[in-house]
Amino acid sequence: MATSMVIGTQWGDEGKGKIVDYLAEQADVVVRSQGGNNAGHTVVVDDKAFALRLLPSGILYDNKTNVIGTGVVIDPKVFLEELSNLEKQGKSAKGLQISNRAHVIMPYHIRLDEAEEASKGAMKIGTTKNGIGPCYADKVNRVGIRVCDLYDEDLFVTKLKYNVTIKNKMFTNVYGVEPVDFDTILRDYKNYAAQIKKFVADTNSTVINAIKDGKKVLFEGAQATMLDLDHGTYPFVTSSHPVAGGASVGSGVGPHYLNNIVGVVKAYATRVGEGPFPSEQLNEVGEALREIGHEFGTVTGRSRRTGWLDLAVVSYAAGLSSLDYLAITRLDILDTFKEIKICVGYTLDGKPVTGFPADLKELERCEPIYETMEGWQTDISGIREYDALPEAARRYVERIAEVTGVAIGIVSVGPNRNQTIVVQDVFK
Ligand code: GDP
Ligand code: IMO
Ligand code: MG
Repeated sequence: MATSMVIGTQWGDEGKGKIVDYLAEQADVVVRSQGGNNAGHTVVVDDKAFALRLLPSGILYDNKTNVIGTGVVIDPKVFLEELSNLEKQGKSAKGLQISNRAHVIMPYHIRLDEAEEASKGAMKIGTTKNGIGPCYADKVNRVGIRVCDLYDEDLFVTKLKYNVTIKNKMFTNVYGVEPVDFDTILRDYKNYAAQIKKFVADTNSTVINAIKDGKKVLFEGAQATMLDLDHGTYPFVTSSHPVAGGASVGSGVGPHYLNNIVGVVKAYATRVGEGPFPSEQLNEVGEALREIGHEFGTVTGRSRRTGWLDLAVVSYAAGLSSLDYLAITRLDILDTFKEIKICVGYTLDGKPVTGFPADLKELERCEPIYETMEGWQTDISGIREYDALPEAARRYVERIAEVTGVAIGIVSVGPNRNQTIVVQDVFK
């Protein structure tokens, strides 16, 4: 049995897509378990960039099974657009499967996401406005529409009528926005259903059987620990569970099958949207990180907030996801810095903080404890062996392992597949 999982340890955009693409070469099956097209995973192959949102990052190989699992929320329109773009770029979706149990994002979810954000004022989350939260809310409220429901005309019409009636009352009476049209949605979604039918499968069985048959299965996380609905900086989170346990539920695979859990750590920190960010640098350091790192969102184009690496966050992620290894990404972005700070914990009212604060006001008052490390001031993007990294870069990486107590598996020094330094095998 060989499984591996790639998890975001910070606020997303750590480079999960690149690490999944790299590891996918060895995999038979690549599985997305949660989130939806709020994700934006950029994968670079031979200097050509592919922006993936719903499709697993194993899709760029021809011979893999790629699974969009049960815990994912699927916008079929976005899915079909993504597929068509991929095909235009010369890739095929052969071997792709969509869970028959996954929930479907409907136009009223997107409208609700926009209306709720607009009405929240200071409580605004800064969502990607893709209808993710409202779709998961309907799922939890047991009124959601699943992929398999699309193929039972009576059931689909009944569920759609119910939802459109209730949501339109909310649109007109509460939010003061335009209602949605039942007939248009029914027509469009019948059309989408016909187009995606060939991909629909019982993916829970696909994944379990693959594991039992000794195939190599790779789980691809979207979003990240600090955006987890239960464990992140609630309410400034997404509506799914990006921690390792979420992959178990979202793929329909028991926890004993999950091995080699890899936490992806960007060598500094970024956050898109609202919410606390203790090591944020609202100064020239933050500007430099944004400029050098081109820190602008793949999905929304929004400018990302930037700061120093926060190991209080990564250590929290290490426990929540029982991380076996770390993959440090974007180390090359720090190449020109003379000094690099690293947050190794927080103090609150002069006392060290243990655990990770639940209360956001408390978190906002936390003072990061910084260690200042020497920069390496050399271009490392061409280095392929760990021992060939400058000593200062190795010291930085090793300090991350020391503070978090998690071994280093991979160090990434550029977006391309080959810009990857394997410190130890993370997919055994
Ligand atoms: P994800 O959402 O976690 O998959 O990350 P994103 O794809 O949103 O953002 C990471 C960006 O960094 C992408 O543009 C990647 O191509 C790029 N990237 C990944 N690893 C590295 C690296 O080691 N160095 C550099 N310079 N870029 C990287
Ligand atoms: P990847 O997989 C970074 C953030 C949004 C917002 C919050 C809730 O590329 O790392 P949502 O639309 O999910 O309801 O928005 O979560 N967010 C992400 N930030 N990377 C992501 O995905 C994200 N997916 C959601 O910016 O703050
Ligand atoms: Mg991203």
